[in-house]
Amino acid sequence: MVDTATAWKAIEDKARPTLLELFQAEPDRLSRLTIDEGGIHFDFSKTHLDAGLVDAFAALAESAAIGKARDALFSGQIANPTEGRAAEHTAERGQGAPDSVALAKDLHARMRALIDAIEADALGPIRHVLHIGIGGSALGPDLLIDALGREAGRYDVAIVSNVDGSALEEVFRRFDPAATLLVVASKTFTTTETMLNAESALAWMAESGVDDPYGQVIAVTAAPDRAVEWGVDGTRVLPFTESVGGRYSLWSSIGFPAALALGWDAFETLLEGAAAMDRHFRLAPPVRNAPMLAAFADLYYTVVRKAETRGIFAYDERLRLLPFYLQQLEMESNGKGVKVDGSPVDKPTAAITWGGVGTDAQHAVFQLLHQGTHLVPIEFIATIEPGDALDEAHHRTLLINAFAQGAALMAGKTSDDPARAYPGDRPSTTILLDRLDPSRLGALIAFYEHRVFTNAVILGINPFDQFGVELGKEIAKSIETEGTERFDASTRALIARAFG
Ligand code: F6P
Repeated sequence: MVDTATAWKAIEDKARPTLLELFQAEPDRLSRLTIDEGGIHFDFSKTHLDAGLVDAFAALAESAAIGKARDALFSGQIANPTEGRAAEHTAERGQGAPDSVALAKDLHARMRALIDAIEADALGPIRHVLHIGIGGSALGPDLLIDALGREAGRYDVAIVSNVDGSALEEVFRRFDPAATLLVVASKTFTTTETMLNAESALAWMAESGVDDPYGQVIAVTAAPDRAVEWGVDGTRVLPFTESVGGRYSLWSSIGFPAALALGWDAFETLLEGAAAMDRHFRLAPPVRNAPMLAAFADLYYTVVRKAETRGIFAYDERLRLLPFYLQQLEMESNGKGVKVDGSPVDKPTAAITWGGVGTDAQHAVFQLLHQGTHLVPIEFIATIEPGDALDEAHHRTLLINAFAQGAALMAGKTSDDPARAYPGDRPSTTILLDRLDPSRLGALIAFYEHRVFTNAVILGINPFDQFGVELGKEIAKSIETEGTERFDASTRALIARAFG
């Protein structure tokens, strides 16, 4: 087995043919660089990965002990050493240490029982669900409900994360407090924004004449004692385990509003779809492993070609929240500057994840992608089965545009007029779902989780901590408690201008 430095050197030293040259040189390119898994077609052929590079990355992954790291992840060993914890999101979908899988099943059963009770009107005639949480305690449920049917079922669900009161007020205007279930979702049950929003929602209920606002509250947390102390009855606290990270938590009770709104069967199917992707990630060889190939392309562009960002464009309106979800998953996980052993990283880590929806983005940001000076690897995500019932021209136009953009980025176009020339050779990956349903969405999200993990293992970083978010929180608290003296002139002046 080669060491990591030698494996990287082999990758850096490789020739750099263009994408069009690669297609000519490798007649079997499509079959080697496309993978069908769980109703999803992954096409990596428009990246610069070629047979030699894939083998070189597989050797690099081996030198980084990816197999051992993956086994450790799935068997509940410490995968998050800076916090001394396992990372057991896969146990939520039945893929993990037996004890953790059993515990996850018990907690899911508890969640299901509460959903049954709510459906039987045990908490009153609930029609509205106000889910309050932020980051991983909001982005996942929001994505699931938006993608799989916000209007489905008997509940109107609103997910509020921002501490800006305008977000809550908008919901207060729409919802009937007597028919509202308030879900307070926070792993730690200490997050300032969530606790303030939850207090304000309770006050809104009380001021609107609800006799027992706490009777309409569900807490979703890994700190059940804090939720009880805050006033939620223990029977309405849905715990999840500390070893499930916030941005990996939609499979746990954090997914409660999705399970309620979409139905328990849909939630279970989501878990099964993710489990199938877990098995693929564990068992497929690196050269046929979708999350690994995706990570190889990520590393190639960030480390070798120095791409600073990665653009994700959903050519499916139902997946419009996916770029936001992935921003947290990718950047909070891998936006790190030190390795697991504390030494500084010697390579760029996560690209900046950004994106939008097609075709809108074509008329706004694609100019830069086609002719700008930045290299931006692009990901197109589309669905073959339409999500709408309009004339098929809509969906056909949507898909053709997604495919045309990938082709245009790769082929480019020469012109005597430099302003009208397209350099081409710009990489993209296409992810094509045969249809959008809970199983495929589960598989898709799990694909991204394992891609992030593979990137982290090869870079030697811990994808499961997030200390970088703490300093700003501490400073905000100290401004409230200690005043502004110790801050710089600019910060003091801004505070004085805002608050007098
Ligand atoms: O500040 C970042 C963060 O800790 C995320 O990692 C997390 O998803 C979010 O805040 C919310 O945290 P909690 O679920 O504990 O309220």
